[in-house]
Amino acid sequence: MCVLNSKKRLVLSKNWNHQLEDRKKLGLFRQLHPRVDSSALNLAGNDYLLHSKNPEIIEAACQAARDWGCSSTGSPLVSGYTAIHQDLEKLLSEWYGNRPVLVWNTGYAINQCVLSQVPEVGDLILADRLIHNSMIQGILKSSAKFKRYDHLNLDRLEQLLEQNREHSGQLFVVTESVFSMDGDYPDLKRIAHLKSIYDFKWILDEAHAVGWYGNNGSGLAEELGVLDQVDILIGTMGKSVGSMGAYMVLREDWERDYWINYAGEFIYSTYLSPMSVGASIRSIQMIQKNKIRMEVQTLSRKIRSLLVSIGCSEIGQGDSPILPIFIGDEHRCLEIADHLKKNKIFVGAIRPPTVPKGTSRLRISLNSQLKENDISRFVSILQEIL
Ligand SMILES: Cc1ncc(COP(=O)(O)O)c(C=O)c1O
Repeated sequence: MCVLNSKKRLVLSKNWNHQLEDRKKLGLFRQLHPRVDSSALNLAGNDYLLHSKNPEIIEAACQAARDWGCSSTGSPLVSGYTAIHQDLEKLLSEWYGNRPVLVWNTGYAINQCVLSQVPEVGDLILADRLIHNSMIQGILKSSAKFKRYDHLNLDRLEQLLEQNREHSGQLFVVTESVFSMDGDYPDLKRIAHLKSIYDFKWILDEAHAVGWYGNNGSGLAEELGVLDQVDILIGTMGKSVGSMGAYMVLREDWERDYWINYAGEFIYSTYLSPMSVGASIRSIQMIQKNKIRMEVQTLSRKIRSLLVSIGCSEIGQGDSPILPIFIGDEHRCLEIADHLKKNKIFVGAIRPPTVPKGTSRLRISLNSQLKENDISRFVSILQEIL
C-alpha cells in the first residue's frame, strides 16, 4: 500500500520493510544480480535455440535499426506501427494458417488483458492450477467466476465441464502448453476432444513451445494438430525466437480490431523496437527452415536419463526445453544454484511464491547448441553437490 506522508510525498508503507525481512528469513528474498560473464554456461535463460546470439539474426536487427531507428518512435496507433511490424504480423499470420494476428510488446500484457477483458460477468473460467502469473493477474481482474483444476488433471477438467454443462454464461478453458516452471504439458488432443463435446472457449499460452515443437516450429498445438480448436493462442518472441515481443492469434478480423481499439496496454505504450521486430522476422524464418525439432526433443530426453543415472530422480519428465530438478527446501535450492554459479553455470533457483511451497527447484533451460562437454560438466558439478 502506498501512503502520503505529511509533506505529501509518496513513500513506501513501513509495513513493506517487515514483509521484506520476512522474505529474507524464509530464504525467499528476491534480488537482481546482473549477468556479468557472458562466457558462462547459461542454463537459466529461455533462449532455447540460442537465436539471440545468432549472427544472421543480429544482422537483421542491425539492418532494422538502420532502416527504422532504434525506437519505433511511438505507440502503435500514432507512429509506432511500421512496415516492418506489418511484415512480422504477416509472417506470423501465415505461420498460423492465415489467422488474424496482433503483435504486442509482451506476453504478460496480452495474457493480463485477454483474461481480464474476455470473460465477463456470469462466465466461468476453468484453469490449470499452475498457469502463469500473467494469466492469474488477468483472471483476478475479471468479473467472471474462476475454478482451478489440479495441474494437468484433465479428468478433473472434464468433471468440471460436465458439472457446468448447463452454465448460463460462457465457459473458458485456460492453460499453458509447456508450463514455464515444470516443463510438462497437458494432453492437448484430449482438450481438443473435450471441446467437441462441451461448449467452451480455449485460451492457450504457447510461450515455451514456440520454436521447439511443430513441423513448422509454431508450437505444440501445431505438432498435435489442434490449432483449429484453439480460440486465442498466445505466443512470445522472448523465448525460442531469441528476441522480444509477443503475439495473439485470433479467429476473426474484427477481434483484432477490438484489441486495437480497446486494449489500453496495447494502445498507450511505445511499440516494440524495430530491432526486436527485425530479429524476430529473421529468427522465425530460420525456425521454419531448420527442422531440428526432433533433435532438440531427443536431447531433452537424453539429459533427463543422464540425471536419473547419477541418482537425481526428482526431475520433471518429458521432452521440452524446461527441466526442473526438485529440491524442496528454499535455502538448499539457493545453495546449489550458488555453487553452480561459482563454477560458471547459471541455473534458475525457483522458489515460492513463483512455485507452490515445498517445491523449490532448479530450473534448467536447455538449448539446441549444448555441447557434450557442457552437459557432462554440469552433471558432474551437480553430482558433487547433491
Ligand atoms: C507461460 C508464459 N506466458 C507468458 C509469459 C510472458 O511473456 P513475455 O516475457 O513476453 O512478457 C511468460 C514469461 O515468462 C511465460 O512463461
